[in-house]
Amino acid sequence: EAFDVMVVGSCMTDLVSQAPRLPKAGETIHGHKFFIGFGGKGANQCIQAARLGAKTAMVCKVGKDFFGDNYIQNFKDHGVHTDFVGQTSDAATGAASIIVNNAGENAIVIVAGANMLLGSEELQKALPAISHAKVLVCQLEVSPQTSLQALRMAQENKVKTIFNPAPAIPDLDKDFYRASDVFCCNESEAELLTGSSVTGVEEAHEAGQELLKRGCGSVIITLGPQGCVVLKAQEPASTKHVQTAAVTTVDTTGAGDSFIGALAFYMAHYPTMPLEEMARRANQVAGVSVQAVGTQTSYPFKKDLPAEMF
Ligand code: RIB
Ligand code: NA
Repeated sequence: EAFDVMVVGSCMTDLVSQAPRLPKAGETIHGHKFFIGFGGKGANQCIQAARLGAKTAMVCKVGKDFFGDNYIQNFKDHGVHTDFVGQTSDAATGAASIIVNNAGENAIVIVAGANMLLGSEELQKALPAISHAKVLVCQLEVSPQTSLQALRMAQENKVKTIFNPAPAIPDLDKDFYRASDVFCCNESEAELLTGSSVTGVEEAHEAGQELLKRGCGSVIITLGPQGCVVLKAQEPASTKHVQTAAVTTVDTTGAGDSFIGALAFYMAHYPTMPLEEMARRANQVAGVSVQAVGTQTSYPFKKDLPAEMF
């Protein structure tokens, strides 16, 4: 049984406070709502792909604790294959403290915990599955060596790779670019990786060209309400700006993960669809997610979306 989408990445318990604004250093402010949710970029992307109908498997590590047990149940509830979900007593399940302001913007501190103990051993165990998957997705909330090893495993087996360099690190190993069929990041990540400001479509085109030069098959830079830009190594001259419909934003947390999970779904199910069309549809999916609070709780299922998206 081959998986459509495999994700090697993180699981975090999201501890979310909604407040009128983000507090300053040393300041205490009143918030109006608190909730706990399932998050972590890797798991978010996997759950979005699963909700659209992809056959998914997650390769990750959680703690032998209440949050870890709950997380495994969340995967099972979504039909995500959990044979490669490890549990360790050496660290706690990853946690993210999130504050969301009235504009739907956020500030996040993650404590990766058990995520950092995901390594070669687990990848070796998952290799037979990885080598037969349609698409493999990685991020940077587990150790970078683990992500890079997973991307290489996939590439050696002609499995399509999506790499999301988030949260971004300034000195990203150049091998990540070469191991990415699709390198997908947001404006601030593109800025950190290229060292030049990326605030709109024009600058995103330029940053995209620079990232493309480093060896990726394609580059997508997401621009929130401005959609995204799509660049391909095969047609380097034709950068495309893919626009998106305006929506009322409640909470943008995890919107990028919704986009990537959807992109992975489209790459697996419609391999010949033009990348910009996949990106257009993934924008629509992520656009639904920003209209409700939370990360995974806000991700649409196939049944919530118009039939022409499938
Ligand atoms: O991308 C959003 C995610 O980032 C949240 O779910 C949080 O867990 C952090 O990892
Ligand atoms: Na949301």
